[in-house]
Amino acid sequence: MANVTRKYLIAGNWKMNKTASEGAELVQEINLALGKQTDVGVAVCPPFTALENCARSLEDSNIQLGAQNMYPKSEGAYTGEVSPVMLRSLFCTFVILGHSERREYFEEDDAFINEKVLAALQSSLKPILCVGETLEQREAGQTMEVVKKQLAGGLEGVKADHADNIVIAYEPVWAIGTGKTATPEMAQEVHKMIRDELVAFYGETAAEKIRILYGGSMKPENASELMDQADIDGGLIGGASLKAKSFIELVEIARAK
Ligand code: PGA
Repeated sequence: MANVTRKYLIAGNWKMNKTASEGAELVQEINLALGKQTDVGVAVCPPFTALENCARSLEDSNIQLGAQNMYPKSEGAYTGEVSPVMLRSLFCTFVILGHSERREYFEEDDAFINEKVLAALQSSLKPILCVGETLEQREAGQTMEVVKKQLAGGLEGVKADHADNIVIAYEPVWAIGTGKTATPEMAQEVHKMIRDELVAFYGETAAEKIRILYGGSMKPENASELMDQADIDGGLIGGASLKAKSFIELVEIARAK
């Protein structure tokens, strides 16, 4: 265990993959293997259209459900959008916010992401706030500055008493879906900086409780070393969460720590 005050969290980000029935099938397989264990937090984040089926398959399971996005209003004339209240009604615990794909393809900025973080917390959803630099920014030596800005922007107005409900995911954009992973040392350097920022925002006690996940081509072959780092508290898993076998293996690696 990286730290006794934090339980590892392995969260699957399915992105735009799996129909409702395919999702239920995948979740059933994962649930059979992991639904009873409580050593490690496990969550799956299917697309909206698969949430209901997955929620049904996860009744009485310790596996939690998350969404991949939401709109920061509880209801109203926002065609095509989904509210935090709707996600809660489908038994979602988590919601991924500020993923780099949303920042890039849908031009979401820190202010909009911050609105979502606040709205999620208000509806008792736990935000998984994603931050991370592009390759260009890393090569220009801007990693720390970029991640700090995304973190401060995303968390603006979030009070220390909500700290327990926040999860941060550090996902270097150049490592997402590319097969390139940050080395454990590179990742830890950023995770440590994030922890220090959280200490500055919320104080040591609260900051020590916040889980900071690594994301970006994490798979059974590289997960152990990453999770050995002091401030890496699990993973946000894309590709390797789409097959029961690799996802289960990742959870087992975390359980063995
Ligand atoms: P990946 O995706 O594991 O496929 O790199 C991670 C993510 O984007 O959350």
